[in-house]
Amino acid sequence: ATVQGELIKNLTSKESVPRNKISIIGSGSVGLACAISILLRGLSDELALVDVAEGKLRGEMLDLQHGSLFVKMPKIVSSKDYQVTANSRLVIITAGARQKKGETRLDLVQRNLAIFRLMISDIMMHSPNCKVIIVSNPVDILTYVTWKLSGIPQNRVIGSGCNLDTARFRFLIGQKLGLHAESCHGWVLGEHGDSCVPVWSGVNVAGVPLRDLNAQLGTDQDPERWKDVHKEVVASPYEIIKTKGYTSWAIGLSVADLAESVLRDLRRVHPVSTIVKGLYGIREEVALSVPCVLGGDGIAGLIQVKLTPEEEARLKKSAETLWEVLRALDV
Ligand code: NAD
Ligand code: LAC
Repeated sequence: ATVQGELIKNLTSKESVPRNKISIIGSGSVGLACAISILLRGLSDELALVDVAEGKLRGEMLDLQHGSLFVKMPKIVSSKDYQVTANSRLVIITAGARQKKGETRLDLVQRNLAIFRLMISDIMMHSPNCKVIIVSNPVDILTYVTWKLSGIPQNRVIGSGCNLDTARFRFLIGQKLGLHAESCHGWVLGEHGDSCVPVWSGVNVAGVPLRDLNAQLGTDQDPERWKDVHKEVVASPYEIIKTKGYTSWAIGLSVADLAESVLRDLRRVHPVSTIVKGLYGIREEVALSVPCVLGGDGIAGLIQVKLTPEEEARLKKSAETLWEVLRALDV
């Protein structure tokens, strides 16, 4: 007789199968920030971590497990073997190289493409029905690569894209107005990175378009220099990398928000990266961010935003920047 046997009279014998399992591939700074944000939201019933650095991976798993008393998550597991990810509803990819001081996201493409070539088939083999959120950079290129290498439909491949740039944009607008970011509505679309496009024509608070109050908003003629807000969206990650070496907290929080829309089938609209050929005058097959309806099946639809001719031209230019990189890759 064991204490367990004496204590518990079992009514079922089957091991429970996870219904809301999330796997995170890459357990570095970003993977762990995603993990803690997901744990604190109580989003899933099993969290699997994968990394090639086995020793550190085990340490991170144990450390997270020891916090179990404080979160509503029954099971945290890890391995370098993808078997541990089996039956995931959602797989979040954060593995790979990050920018060194002075590097752009696009500079990472060859290093991270090689890693994706190794990973994608393993992920799909163990969770053939999963949705995938891509976070590794350059995220738009790797979103396209994941779609191609996996062969799964577009709706199941979600690039975290400009979800983070938009969060930065809304935070900075809020700082300028003395309001919470949630009350400052606005979108950053296109490439996650240097060519991202601020949609000034749509920026509003409580339905009041800021362009109605300042027709020059976001232009070079604007005496209030709102344009600097977008400049800071582009420049601030470089500043963070120069100081602390990497970005992690905001991306972790923003990925957990995307995960919530998928796992709870919320049909909220997020600026995430998806294939956009044929929209906004974009003729090439590229992945970039547009507002997408996110629910249980992943991307359920794309919102067709009414852009000004200038905004549309910038979005096309952003697509061209990405196409220049993609056309040189053999995927
Ligand atoms: P990191 O170096 O802390 O972690 C990367 C992890 O990937 C490491 O633990 C490494 O061992 C692991 N790894 C490498 N090759 C692997 C493989 N083949 N299989 C499994 N694991 C592997 O880096 P980080 O700061 O966590 O950044 C990770 C990625 O996220 C970078 O590409 C970075 O640019 C990107 N990122 C994206 C955004 C965004 O908004 N999309 C924001 C921040 C960072
Ligand atoms: C970001 C990363 C570096 O924080 O893509 O924007």
